[in-house]
Amino acid sequence: MKIFVTGGCGFIGSNFIHYVLKNYPDYSVINVDELTYAGNLKNLSGVSQSPRYSFLKGDIADSVLMEGVIRQEIDAIVNFAAESHVDRSIEDPSRFMKTNVFGTFVLLEAIRKTSSSRSIRFLHVSTDEVYGSLGAAGAFTEETPMAPNSPYSASKASSDLMVRAYHHTFGLATLITRCSNNYGPYQFPEKLIPLMISNAVEGRELPVYGDGLQVRDWIHVEDHCRALDVVLHQGRAGEVYNIGGQSERTNLSVVRTILDHLDKPHSLIRFVKDRPGHDRRYAIDFSKIEKTLGWKPLILFEEGIRQTIVWYQAHPEWWMEIKTGAYLDYYERMYGNR
Ligand code: NAD
Ligand code: DAU
Repeated sequence: MKIFVTGGCGFIGSNFIHYVLKNYPDYSVINVDELTYAGNLKNLSGVSQSPRYSFLKGDIADSVLMEGVIRQEIDAIVNFAAESHVDRSIEDPSRFMKTNVFGTFVLLEAIRKTSSSRSIRFLHVSTDEVYGSLGAAGAFTEETPMAPNSPYSASKASSDLMVRAYHHTFGLATLITRCSNNYGPYQFPEKLIPLMISNAVEGRELPVYGDGLQVRDWIHVEDHCRALDVVLHQGRAGEVYNIGGQSERTNLSVVRTILDHLDKPHSLIRFVKDRPGHDRRYAIDFSKIEKTLGWKPLILFEEGIRQTIVWYQAHPEWWMEIKTGAYLDYYERMYGNR
């Protein structure tokens, strides 16, 4: 199988490429990534010389490039490319519209125009955030109405709807996955877990938004990659599949767990101004993928977070380089005046 991966230099995309090349010795991967602030070639340095891997720097909103890649007899597309950080979407939503909405549309159009490519399986990697926020009980199913609350989640919901329409109208073999919060190696240190680990290691304060009692359902990126694998190979075209980690935690308890693992004082926690429109709770009902495709998460949060902390401790050069320069400006803008 020849898989076209978009956004493969980011967190989940790079983990997925490692996963595919390791588990499928006869598969090859073409990765197209624009290398935004979140894309890092170093995430793939271990496979960059492989004859089964090739990389093109490019934008998914570039229709000529997308059509050119799709004509290379690919069998499937896995679309990770996106602006992915909620806080940045609050600061400036425009890039979220360009990549997440327009970029996905360009990809769908490129498949539609390349008539021989109708059979290409298009797996669109989406998020549980399209469903909005939950109260104290219940979980999102695939039937939960979409109610996105941030510019980021609204852009992902828009792209999901466009993917749905291209299946119904043009018969494209599309699949949509909606996953909860990922953690693991190569996650950009602006997201909760790598930010808190790296700040704690550096002895910086740990900024917790609001009261810190918001709940997220954490899934190790390796479990997410296994789920994408089964959906790509066995999922039914036109369907949506929820993916969750069965690990609901408050943000505060995640932060305290990290401090305890690193033997750092809880006094490093700094409660800061809340995120505007902050979703209170996410929880995922993944019974559909479990019953129909036999997938469930395997990595317990306690073990996954321990391994993840060890990985960031062992790779300070990876995140320290990222946390300099332009990123520090962003960090100051975010937390300097909270
Ligand atoms: P990320 O920000 O780490 O990586 C995104 C990648 O996309 C980067 O390599 C970036 O350079 C690339 N990119 C951005 N704009 C592009 C463009 N116009 N053309 C080509 N490449 C472009 O994101 P992530 O956390 O790895 O998330 C990947 C996907 O999974 C996203 O679609 C996101 O919405 C979805 N998702 C993420 C999570 C999570 O917890 N991180 C959970 C569910 C779904
Ligand atoms: O649910 C899936 C989504 O998870 C993905 O679609 C997004 O791409 C991904 O970024 C993530 O979104 P969140 O907003 O949930 O993740 P983030 O790591 O930014 O924040 C997790 C929680 O921690 C959230 O409630 C906000 C809070 N937080 C975050 C940061 C960065 C803090 O309290 N302090 C922080 O410094």
